Amino acid sequence: MTRSSSECRPARGRLVLGIETSCDETAAAVVEDAWRVRGAAVAVQHDLHETYGGVVPEIASRAHLERLLPVVRQALDRAGATLQDLDAIAVGHRPGLIGALLVGTSAAKGLAIGLGVPLVGVDHVHAHLLSGLLVDRDAPRPRSLPLPAIGLVISGGHTNLYAIEEPSEPRRLGRTIDDAIGEAFDKVGAMLGCPHPGGPAVERLAESGDPHALDLPVANLGRDRLDFSFSGLKTAVRYAALGAPGRDAPPLTDARRADVAASFQRAAIAALRRNLRRAFDRVPEARGLLVGGGVVANGPVRTMLAEEAARATVDLVVPDLRWCQDNGAMIAALGTLRLQAGETDDLTLAPSATTRT
Ligand code: KG4
Ligand code: ZN
Repeated sequence: MTRSSSECRPARGRLVLGIETSCDETAAAVVEDAWRVRGAAVAVQHDLHETYGGVVPEIASRAHLERLLPVVRQALDRAGATLQDLDAIAVGHRPGLIGALLVGTSAAKGLAIGLGVPLVGVDHVHAHLLSGLLVDRDAPRPRSLPLPAIGLVISGGHTNLYAIEEPSEPRRLGRTIDDAIGEAFDKVGAMLGCPHPGGPAVERLAESGDPHALDLPVANLGRDRLDFSFSGLKTAVRYAALGAPGRDAPPLTDARRADVAASFQRAAIAALRRNLRRAFDRVPEARGLLVGGGVVANGPVRTMLAEEAARATVDLVVPDLRWCQDNGAMIAALGTLRLQAGETDDLTLAPSATTRT
């Protein structure tokens, strides 16, 4: 059903639908007053991409096209809401796979026009930073945002450090110059024979391994730099697991696989820890640490984050496991903050493969 423009609601961002299609998760959520998740749904595509060992952009776009409206319907049903209850539509329109983003952005525009409600585009990576503030519909009052804060997004596509004063305009302090940390987990997983995406399997393997079995490099790009590099580590793991040119590796027994996984995980976490410390040195006034992204689901990563937040005496805002992966709720949350700041987008909103900061 459509609503005429005279019935348009103001952009106060109370009940916002968030749409996420940047990579291989089709997700939607209805969020109330920025943080309270009334209902959420996600359709993962791992089975579609598994045989290729990574996400195939065209397959992802087609799957989003088939799944997005049923996922939106499911999120609304879980929220006990109808389309007509929505005050605005938020969509992750950058960065990501361009065809995948196009599906979400087009659907969001269609819904916003049809319902006569505001449209707001948000940056997917910036949205991850807010995922730790999401609460269930019956939870007590959400906590407040501790600002200024250091932000860390660690996912399959990003490894970014930020200084945050204004959540919709975080200032990037560092990023990976090659592989993202989740990508490195996934590639190491593939070397060790784990199904894609390999991150969770590498964590499980690492539990029974010796993290000091291999001496793996932790790239340091310079004392003052907050950037990351994981490709050298990945190559070192490849040589250790599968052999180097002219040098055989020991047999890849289950025990050896566990040792390789544990040693890799220790080195990857050491890189995060070192750059986090540098970020806190650079922004001593920080009061919070906001983290997000699929790799935050990793237990030893979460332990390290808690240790570093305590060391810097800041509040750690870390998402529940279900909000670590890509989701529509974080999109709705950042969309609501933009709406509260009086910002909306029009139909020229375009998907973009890259981020601005
Ligand atoms: O944020 P996300 O769902 O999607 C992207 O925007 O990339 O992150 C997915 C990434 C994958 O690389 C996946 O292997 C990794 O997060 N991941 C993990 C764990 N769970 C998911 N990496 C390490 N340990 C985990 N437990
Ligand atoms: Zn993501």
